[in-house]
Amino acid sequence: MNVPSEDLERVKQALEEATSVFVITGAGISAESGVPTFRTAGGIWQQVDPMKVATPEAFAANPKKVWEFYNDRRVRLKQCAPNPGHEALARLERRKENMLILTQNVDSLHEDAGSERVIHIHGSIWEVRCMGCRKVTIHRETPIPELPPHCACGAILRPNVVWFGETISPIQCTLVERFLEQHPPQVTLVIGTEASFGYIISWAEETKRSDSLLVEINPGVTDLSGMADICLRSSSGEILPKIIS
Ligand code: APR
Repeated sequence: MNVPSEDLERVKQALEEATSVFVITGAGISAESGVPTFRTAGGIWQQVDPMKVATPEAFAANPKKVWEFYNDRRVRLKQCAPNPGHEALARLERRKENMLILTQNVDSLHEDAGSERVIHIHGSIWEVRCMGCRKVTIHRETPIPELPPHCACGAILRPNVVWFGETISPIQCTLVERFLEQHPPQVTLVIGTEASFGYIISWAEETKRSDSLLVEINPGVTDLSGMADICLRSSSGEILPKIIS
């Protein structure tokens, strides 16, 4: 970890003094738990074409193939536990009056580590949505024996995740905006994401307008690095326990 100690100290201090903290996470925070990322070397989208397994059209054409992809991820995720990065954020949340984790991850490792104020902007791999009655339920049976699974109403179920070509939830967007308006964060951590989506960049940008210290935690450079005040070039599992006691 080649992170300047003065940067570590500055972020640690700012987190201790903050009354409001905003955290954006991506696949990178779960990497040290054994969960593959999407776009870095060996990532999911280098093994599988997302257009074939993560779009409404792919699901309509071949629901079984799409479910095989998600079933495999669920089987792998079932073996994964939160890492020290998830645990440090859960500790921080217990000390902060106002804190929100906006995660792009569909795993439940933030909650498994004890975080409670989490918004899953891309949905959850542990939820299903009925294509008929639209009901959303938690579905943890892994592996799913019969693919595609069916709802009690008879229609097939889909993973309750946001696919390419679909929009994120306006309700969740409102919740994020309301948090940023009512509790402008003194510190914003952007952890383990390529920041591939405009809404991720714009929420990070919005915090800078209220003078938040914007900190990127990522071993690599991303589209967001240029606007960050501090870039901690290290893995989140290693660095988060150093800035959150
Ligand atoms: N600690 C911190 N960051 C890490 C670590 C680590 N141990 N390992 C990898 N990273 C960083 C990588 O450098 C990369 O910038 O995590 C990022 C992972 O990027 P992606 O694989 O693109 O994942 P993410 O940004 O979360 O993708 C966003 O895209 O396809 C959709 O729905 C999918 O939610 C996902 C979204």
